[in-house]
Amino acid sequence: MGHKGDKTTDLAQETKEVSSKDRLTTDYGVKQTTADDWLKIVSKDSTGPMLLEDPFGRERIHRFDHERIPERVVHARGSGAFGKFRVYESAEDLTFAPVLTDTSRETPVFVRFSTVLGSRGSADTVRDVRGFATKFYTQEGNWDLVGNDIPVFFIQDAIKFPDVIHAGKPEPHNEVPQAQSAHNNFWDFQFNHTEATHMFMWAMSDRGIPRSYRMMQGFGVNTFTLINAKGERHFVKFTWTPELGVHSLVWDEALKLAGEDPDFHRKDLWEAVENGVYPKWKFGIQAIPEADEHKFDFDILDATKVWPEDLVPTRYIGEMELNRNPDEFFTQTEQIAFCTSHVVPGIGFSDDPLLQGRNFSYFDTQLSRLGINWQELPINRPVCPVMNFNRDGAMRHTITKGTVNYWPNRFDACPPASHQEGGYVEYAEKIAGIKARARSEKFKEHFNQAQLFWNSMSPIEKSHITNALSFELDHCEDPVVYGRMVQRLADIDLGLAQTVAEMVGGEAPTEAKRPNHGKRAKALSQFEFPPMK
Ligand code: HEM
Repeated sequence: MGHKGDKTTDLAQETKEVSSKDRLTTDYGVKQTTADDWLKIVSKDSTGPMLLEDPFGRERIHRFDHERIPERVVHARGSGAFGKFRVYESAEDLTFAPVLTDTSRETPVFVRFSTVLGSRGSADTVRDVRGFATKFYTQEGNWDLVGNDIPVFFIQDAIKFPDVIHAGKPEPHNEVPQAQSAHNNFWDFQFNHTEATHMFMWAMSDRGIPRSYRMMQGFGVNTFTLINAKGERHFVKFTWTPELGVHSLVWDEALKLAGEDPDFHRKDLWEAVENGVYPKWKFGIQAIPEADEHKFDFDILDATKVWPEDLVPTRYIGEMELNRNPDEFFTQTEQIAFCTSHVVPGIGFSDDPLLQGRNFSYFDTQLSRLGINWQELPINRPVCPVMNFNRDGAMRHTITKGTVNYWPNRFDACPPASHQEGGYVEYAEKIAGIKARARSEKFKEHFNQAQLFWNSMSPIEKSHITNALSFELDHCEDPVVYGRMVQRLADIDLGLAQTVAEMVGGEAPTEAKRPNHGKRAKALSQFEFPPMK
């Protein structure tokens, strides 16, 4: 028979403080008399061979030999902090999830910020996308909102993820990230894969070199759904907006910092939290009623598109504060594991083909990074009870006392929960279609929002983008790559393409490749961030 689950309300329960009263022991608890000498054969006048017999010596080396686990396949370099989230305005018109409706609740969170392409020891201030992943430890289970600091993505369908990452990571033969050939590969991919155009414009903008993790927006990027108590469904996008505003480095600062202080962002976050200057973000939702799904000239399930705020305003309903540094980097920041598939009742997925693939990928990658029992690690455990008949596997921690480990059973132990009891019920979405490897027509338009983005920039922001593209393409040694990319830029703006051609080489285009579709929007620098409560 089952028992009550492994209830953990204190996330720090595994924390051990070392004090002068403690004595050095092995992992199996036996006190050690020395940490200095391996067991040896010693005579009066010589030191003899070391003995393999020494369990203390062997344990220390074994433990050391296995300290490293595989780094994340992407987003390997990161840092994080604990904090709290609360809503000050209920979103009950959109969802019945208490984390977004109960204004009296404080939900503990852990947020991990990261770069995407560099390895664990790489510099913080490189030009890259930044991860912004939040684990909400809600009373209904963990909700992982795994986002970035840029609201769109390079690809529309998850099947392309290995390609976009391989093109951006170092080349396989020499693993030199800044090699000219690696620039060739990245820009070769961007040219051949037109749906990345909007995203590379963001990455080449000042958004690609944030001043601080505390000064970044965060976006869920993918389209999720919220379901309210009446059973109505909305398509939604989630946004974090920092109290401190969005700020970036200039390229020269980023370069110098990468050399002088490669831990710049990590230190900045740590020191702010340590000194009580707690970073805060507002939490916003853009919502589109289910009936309006097809009313836009872009597909709202396409992760390479934003939902322009003049069409779908962001409603800010909550705030998050990060106020506690991790006690230990590895155990918490490194071993935290996010899954986009982890949502709580009242929150659901959409048919966004990027999100659907992500929902498979994250759980899968945790298996090789941490092992099948990764959810038992203190940092990953929910604060609500966990009880089920999943069992065994490497590093199993939970002990489930009882004589049955299946359902149904004669004791009626551990039955599934009804909707009224808080059970997760999938939205009864109507599906009709043919089975095919395809996307809807609207997914095929790849340039309008890249133009919209460019048009929304102030002159200084445009000059930064022009310089960034020139710097990047100048590092490509293959004329085919930079020559074609210069032509591609004429799909966005003729002046941009001509200036980059002048700085990099390649034939300068003489006319715009297409009419300008993006209407002028407010410059980012003029964007007013909503006041914090
Ligand atoms: C890791 C964001 C697309 C696979 C991450 C992390 C973030 C993130 C923030 C780091 C999590 C952490 O701090 O531990 C995003 C966003 C995407 C996206 C915003 C696009 C909307 C994808 C896609 C796939 C994918 C399409 C695969 C199909 C992974 C994997 C990891 C990862 C395997 C490593 C996870 C780990 O080891 O913990 N992603 N990602 N991502 N992402 Fe994504």
